[in-house]
Amino acid sequence: MNHKEPGKVTEAQIAVHWQEEQYFHPSEDFVAQANMTDKGIYDRFGLNNFPDCFHEYAELLSWYRRWDTTFDASDAPCWKWFVGGKINASYNCIDRHLDSNRNKAAIVFVPELEHEPHEVITYQELYVRVNETAALLRDFAGLKTGDRVTIHMPMSTDLPVVMLACARLGVIHSVVFGGFSGKACGERIADSGSSVLITTDGYYRNGKMLDHKVKADEAVKVVSEAGQIVEKVLVWRRYPDTYQSEAPMKPGRDFFMDEHLPEFRGVRVEPVELDADAPLFLMYTSGTTGRPKGCQHSIGGYLTYVAGTSKYVQDIHPEDVYWCMADIGWITGHSYIVYGPLALAATSVIYEGVPTFPDAGRPWRIAERLGVNIFHTAPTTVRMLRKFGPEEPKKYNFEFKHMTTVGEPIEPEVWRWYYDVIGKGKAAIVDTWWQTETGGFLCSTMPAIHSMKPGSAGPAMPGIHPVIYDEDGNTVAEGSGIAGNICIQNPWPGGFQTIWGDRNRYIKTYYEKYCKDSQSKDWRDWPYFPGDAATQSSDGYYRILGRVDDVINVAGHRLGTKELESACMTISDLAEAAVVPVTDDLKGKVPDVYVSLQPGVRESKDLEKAVVLAIETEIGKIARPKNVWIVPDMPKTRSGKIMRRVLASISNATDVGDITTLANPEVVEHIRDMVQS
Ligand code: WTA
Repeated sequence: MNHKEPGKVTEAQIAVHWQEEQYFHPSEDFVAQANMTDKGIYDRFGLNNFPDCFHEYAELLSWYRRWDTTFDASDAPCWKWFVGGKINASYNCIDRHLDSNRNKAAIVFVPELEHEPHEVITYQELYVRVNETAALLRDFAGLKTGDRVTIHMPMSTDLPVVMLACARLGVIHSVVFGGFSGKACGERIADSGSSVLITTDGYYRNGKMLDHKVKADEAVKVVSEAGQIVEKVLVWRRYPDTYQSEAPMKPGRDFFMDEHLPEFRGVRVEPVELDADAPLFLMYTSGTTGRPKGCQHSIGGYLTYVAGTSKYVQDIHPEDVYWCMADIGWITGHSYIVYGPLALAATSVIYEGVPTFPDAGRPWRIAERLGVNIFHTAPTTVRMLRKFGPEEPKKYNFEFKHMTTVGEPIEPEVWRWYYDVIGKGKAAIVDTWWQTETGGFLCSTMPAIHSMKPGSAGPAMPGIHPVIYDEDGNTVAEGSGIAGNICIQNPWPGGFQTIWGDRNRYIKTYYEKYCKDSQSKDWRDWPYFPGDAATQSSDGYYRILGRVDDVINVAGHRLGTKELESACMTISDLAEAAVVPVTDDLKGKVPDVYVSLQPGVRESKDLEKAVVLAIETEIGKIARPKNVWIVPDMPKTRSGKIMRRVLASISNATDVGDITTLANPEVVEHIRDMVQS
């Protein structure tokens, strides 16, 4: 990542031309009821109070045994939090609420088909289901503390149930987003060393029943090609007793959950008293090189951080109805649908399908009916709903006190629409910047303390202390508005512990660039580099500019350019493939694919289709490219490196800059004619 092309201007150094936006202030009503109104929290969480400031969050949880050491740097930069503490995440999200909230809705599941009834799961019901499922995982599937299990499931109540059942046993779950292909799932199973796959027969998407179990069979095949074995495939059914998939059930390997759960009726599984710094889950995410990285999150630190931020930033009170539209298969769903809200005894709404099914009024009908008052979604969804105009939401009677955006930068125009039309000029908005790796929010306004500024995530969270560096590691002056690479100076409890099975890659990807001393056991020498460019304006607010590495953020989903290129290269007719991000009105960015062909191969529409199919098969439909361009050759440096920057400029119709130093400048003209004609 230190590599610099001569004369190349990095994204982070590009001068920033936007204007400062006007502030919006939280309403008095919001402030009056907010969980956090004390500005003093920022002093309490000052660097001079590191690490003990985080006790304030940890004390929101129930511990079997309090920790001896808050923060341990002896294995830097694999930080340990709350060492000596004993805790169980399932207990914290369920059992401890039973005394006062047994009959309260923990989860309300909204099926995509509008005529199907909602499923309301009280904390008591959640307790029963999680216990019985934990018993099945332990006694039927043979899973025990420290084992990994891969869960490839769509949005359903069974998904959080099975996650919490794993957490109860100390089994490390690795949830793979349901939209990923069987192949992508299989690679993640193999990397994590899971011997059990938990899946579903099918689910609704845009009104159609999708066959999901077929992906499990593909996944198992990929795993066996990697020389490993999936011993059991546990299949939930969308409708118990009826099977929605065409894929046969393999005797001795595949089992229906609804057939085996009754064997465990009434069984209770004591939550295992686990070390606070033991892993809770893995979440795979895309990075700069091909292979996805299994981000390993701890039990005590992670739960501490998501409970604290859910309470103060999401402003969740037990009586709120909270709806986060993200998918549980992404980190947002883990932290802010499942673990954070349930740790606070909230009611968390889970919606199965797409926001515009059967029409763009659906989210507002759900909000109206359930009395949702906290709403959480991504800019891409806001842009999509905005397309249908302001009249649609006006037909419905819903009122949000609080709204969140997450996953990618939101344009000020879109932010204002969200505020005026959806928030009705009353809801407080938080624009939360963070990542899979960080477990919870890094930058956001504190909703009752700070004013909002469209397009800016806001100041750093309490206890998070960013610094912006240039490419050479010099500090960019605070509040200067000059862009650079944003880093976090200090560890925090929600940060991931390592990349599963690849500590070196963890260090190389996130720390090497700005590490001051690779032998040091002092956290001050290890700033965390998330891979984003940002500016800080004079009011202390950060504006996130996007990735500086080879990651394309499509509708808030992280896709690695290399992963996409590798998918293309499974087609033997291709000589080379290059993938670049193109700006898209709805999705933020989408991939454009450039391919060149092997000698003697003729270009054809079929080849273009094959490229799209390869990407869908290897990764999933979310990665579908906008265009596939078959080019005679890639623009290259004299040393033979593909100039993706030049291709990206062509795709986005911006200036390609100086190309005279390329080995083949003439090809640029050719490609431009092709793409821009
Ligand atoms: C981007 C999602 C601007 C960023 C929680 C980050 C954002 C990547 C924002 C992480 C935001 C996330 N404003 N950009 N509010 N939130 N990003 O791991 O580039 O799926 O590094 O986590 O999304 O994506 P991930």
